[in-house]
Amino acid sequence: MSTKWWKDSIGYQIYIRSFKDSNNDGIGDIKGITNKLDYLHFLGINLIWICPFYKSPMDDNGYDVSDFFSVSEDYGTLEDMKELLNEAHKRGIKVIIDLILNQTSDEHWWFKEAKKSKNNPYHDYYIWKDPRYINVDGKRIRKEPTNWASFFGGSCWEYVEEVDQYYMKIFSKKMPDLNYENSRVIDEFVKIIDFWCSFGVDGFRLDAIAHLAKSEFRDSLIEADGEYKPDWSKFSNLDKVHTYLKEFNRRVFSKYDLLLVGEVGGNATVKDALLYTLPSRRELNMVFNFDHNWCNNKWEKAPDEKMRIKVLDLKKIFNKWETGLQGARSWNALYWLNHDQPRVASHYADMQYFEKSTKVLALVLYFMWGTPFIYNGEEIGMTNPTFKSIDDFKDVSVKNCYQIEVVENKKDSKKFIEDVSYSTRDNARTIMQWDDSENGGFSICKPWNIICDNYKEINVEREMYDKKSLLNFYRKIIKIRLESEYKNIIRDGIYEQIESEDENLYIYIRKLKIQSKKNNTLIVIGNLTDKVVDFKIDSILTNIDLNNTKIVLSNYDRRAIPEQLKEYEGIVLATRL
Ligand code: NOJ
Repeated sequence: MSTKWWKDSIGYQIYIRSFKDSNNDGIGDIKGITNKLDYLHFLGINLIWICPFYKSPMDDNGYDVSDFFSVSEDYGTLEDMKELLNEAHKRGIKVIIDLILNQTSDEHWWFKEAKKSKNNPYHDYYIWKDPRYINVDGKRIRKEPTNWASFFGGSCWEYVEEVDQYYMKIFSKKMPDLNYENSRVIDEFVKIIDFWCSFGVDGFRLDAIAHLAKSEFRDSLIEADGEYKPDWSKFSNLDKVHTYLKEFNRRVFSKYDLLLVGEVGGNATVKDALLYTLPSRRELNMVFNFDHNWCNNKWEKAPDEKMRIKVLDLKKIFNKWETGLQGARSWNALYWLNHDQPRVASHYADMQYFEKSTKVLALVLYFMWGTPFIYNGEEIGMTNPTFKSIDDFKDVSVKNCYQIEVVENKKDSKKFIEDVSYSTRDNARTIMQWDDSENGGFSICKPWNIICDNYKEINVEREMYDKKSLLNFYRKIIKIRLESEYKNIIRDGIYEQIESEDENLYIYIRKLKIQSKKNNTLIVIGNLTDKVVDFKIDSILTNIDLNNTKIVLSNYDRRAIPEQLKEYEGIVLATRL
């Protein structure tokens, strides 16, 4: 059986709006991506995932689609998209795109029809429920059908007077959820998926896929402050999602050789992930889970304390996913962040040891088993920006919360900014830092979003010419994964964690079970702290033959195997075990 192409892929996620502006309107676009393909080729990746570029009112930067068959004017044309695909394919780069199945924009014509009347043929494309009424002081008050919260703040229901009903919207009110109980919705998306597959894309990142099915519409009983309860179990990873995915597979996905990667929020477990990804189930190839996204002391540290990774938590989580998926012969997706999380450099790296700590993070993650996805700017160490005023935030969920907390409930605006700055999705969406010219080489016009103040020091051009840069370290890792004699070990080798209780070091091996005289094992060692740690590999792995052990990669340029690991030191060894 031939190996699936995506097992040999290294992905790179592009947040199109912030990546590169080709036509000087201050907004990134498709031609901007095409113009940067040579850079991506230089980096060495062979797969890109492009965030939504469809026609959209941009309430949620394109996750609110108003026409799935066309390209937003902000980003270009279908011809531009065709050119991008051709040029990417010429360079051996596959392209996957975001597929947004859970919702449309409220400006999609289906929804415009749907809200006209209950009898409209499109009404049932969405989830509508009648209001509830309660008596308060003798007055009849209209209430939402359930007390469920939306991910973006407030209720997950929105009232429409014309039909005297609420529609469901688990994100913003401009993003009504689709009703998969109606088979015509599936029919519509079969056409949409078929269109893009015939157009030439190589697969999809399935947005918010965990949420397609909803539970019975009864109030949540969880205890939480506020009127609306953040009970994601009401619409996450329910059985019916699998029925829908199987149908999509049977009717359209299976006709093409695609990569299907699902975003599974709502606290998906390894067990859930296996239901999506076991090859025999014919649903998806891999999923993005969010377990490792908040493993630091940010929320509990005293103000003068340093930000630190919770090493044991992080190891436990990665270990659970690697062994859980590999043991079941499924597949994993490896990533530090996407467009919804803070920058990993600000989140898990150590500002005092910036270069070493960003490198060790890359080293520890990208030798694991699965397909890596690097988020644009991660490879140069882009950081969170400093938000100076509320105008610096562009994310609809921040704006919603600002309205509720500051405008309606009079929270202090400075305190609000302080509280959201660290976790806001805007952190990952600042302008890509290409060089040290004005606007970081992104555009000659005023960009739609802010740029980090550090762009003169942290930028692609500067790092390209610096042999010791993070960018060149990423290139090395990518080359080792894709082209070195160790590539099969990295793709297929068994993952096994060593010294799981060590509070400083993350050590794992990747081992191929083949009888050969060649090296069959990689040992990946990362010191995730600012402590100098004594370390003897032959007392950890007593059967190792040190004379036949080679250094594959080191962020301290080691020539000999060290007996002490310096601050944030990382090293990869090749041996035969
Ligand atoms: C997940 C996406 O990553 C996020 O950016 C978006 O807001 C929601 N899904 C809704 O589509």
